[in-house]
Amino acid sequence: MSVHIQNSRITTTIIRQMVADNQPISMLTSYDYTLARLVDRAGIDMILVGDSASNIVCGNAYTLPITMDEMIFLTKGVVRAAQHAMVVVDMPFGSYQVNDDEAVRNAILMLKETGCDAVKIEGGENVLPAIRKIIAAGVPVQGHLGLTPQSVNQFGGYGLRAKEEKEAEQLLRDAELLAQAGCFSIVLEKIPADLAEQVTRLVAPYHCATIGIGAGNRTHGQVLVLHDMLGLNDGFKPKFLRHFAQLASTVQSAVKEYIEAVQNHTFPNEKESY
Ligand code: KIV
Repeated sequence: MSVHIQNSRITTTIIRQMVADNQPISMLTSYDYTLARLVDRAGIDMILVGDSASNIVCGNAYTLPITMDEMIFLTKGVVRAAQHAMVVVDMPFGSYQVNDDEAVRNAILMLKETGCDAVKIEGGENVLPAIRKIIAAGVPVQGHLGLTPQSVNQFGGYGLRAKEEKEAEQLLRDAELLAQAGCFSIVLEKIPADLAEQVTRLVAPYHCATIGIGAGNRTHGQVLVLHDMLGLNDGFKPKFLRHFAQLASTVQSAVKEYIEAVQNHTFPNEKESY
């Protein structure tokens, strides 16, 4: 059954206006109703239901295994929570690479089934025909360049991208093509800050927003994985990540306290009993 909830969420027109007005754009991931509701109420501009759910929610080592059905299931909860933020969903690996028709069909399915506002697609020139057709079908697209985790097997790891001139030139070309094709924004992941600034200048005339992660602070906006910035993954601390909270220790202390209270019969007490 498809989900259609009336909303007054941020639109691509508003994002484009924010670029024109030089207004910084904030974005965080969410994968469930409860956290998405908190993120939305805090005033975030965009929520990304990232395929990082494959790692964060499912415990996989890579983003590659997550499926359309799993992304649809997670996104429905996020969409129910989002009253203000635009909801962008990652098209999972395999859902848009086979051929353009399948890409369009899957993007439409994602929008119809979840009620999301836009989809995100990794890649540049290589996926441009599919992106053009998806946009022509009425589904807004956010691009994703630099470190594109669905290509981890090609890259051989999660290192900094586009530090060499040839790759940087290709990235600039890709970014302009995406902006010309009508992408309302582009995520720039793990690339040098100077290159991210160049991309930002290049696509700004198209009112296309650059959203950085590990790409310095001269992009139009920033995105982080919610669980990472909340310090829930205490073992994960790449250079670009700032922990805005330390929730791993908070959660563990609370759970330990609960176990103790159960073991020594202090929970539940009189007031907590019927
Ligand atoms: O899947 C994801 O969380 C992402 C962000 C890292 C941008 O693509």
